[in-house]
Amino acid sequence: MKDERNEAIEALMQLHSQILECRRCPLWKTRTNAVPGEGRLDAKIMFVGEGPGNQEDRQGRPFVGPAGRFLNELLGIAGLRREDVFITNVLKCRPPDPLNPEKVRKPTTDEVEACRDYLIAQIALIKPKVICLLGDTALKVLLDRSMSISKVHAHPFVKSGIVYVPLYHPAAALHKESLKDVLKQDMLKLREIIDMVMQAETDATHVGIEKQATSI
Ligand code: URA
Repeated sequence: MKDERNEAIEALMQLHSQILECRRCPLWKTRTNAVPGEGRLDAKIMFVGEGPGNQEDRQGRPFVGPAGRFLNELLGIAGLRREDVFITNVLKCRPPDPLNPEKVRKPTTDEVEACRDYLIAQIALIKPKVICLLGDTALKVLLDRSMSISKVHAHPFVKSGIVYVPLYHPAAALHKESLKDVLKQDMLKLREIIDMVMQAETDATHVGIEKQATSI
């Protein structure tokens, strides 16, 4: 078991080295740093955002700008410590807005496709029990193309043994004040979901979460 874990950690470190050198799409030309993600390599809880912004590109770390500061606050509400979870993005490189390179734009389908295997491999190696999908991009890539975050936020979905919890992206709440409270309330729901998942792990009944979650 321990050997298996060590092998997974080794494979993850190799994957992250590969991401740092990646040239699968043209975003390598404009990046300062690729941002593989950070946190516990055997985390039970994973957060997936959209893609690095300016600060993240400069520092090579996810969620370290304004959205990251709000995410840290939200983690606290859910009783989570940043160092105990794993945080990453769908895109590992910053997508600059061609009209204003200081800004970022939405990822293109080709960029998402080029990066998708990295995220899938991270999930397979980390083996989280709960994946929090921050915003529409992560929701559509990992769960369901047709879902909208406004309809499904804080609702748990079970897919292939993993509980997915869609949440508004912290940056969306920085642009729309009313979403801040929604997100804060959702973090309390997330805490309840996490408790149920962890409980189900120890007593192997899965009763609480299975009743509430939608299976996909
Ligand atoms: N927004 C994201 O989606 N990811 C980051 O890492 C920072 C901002």
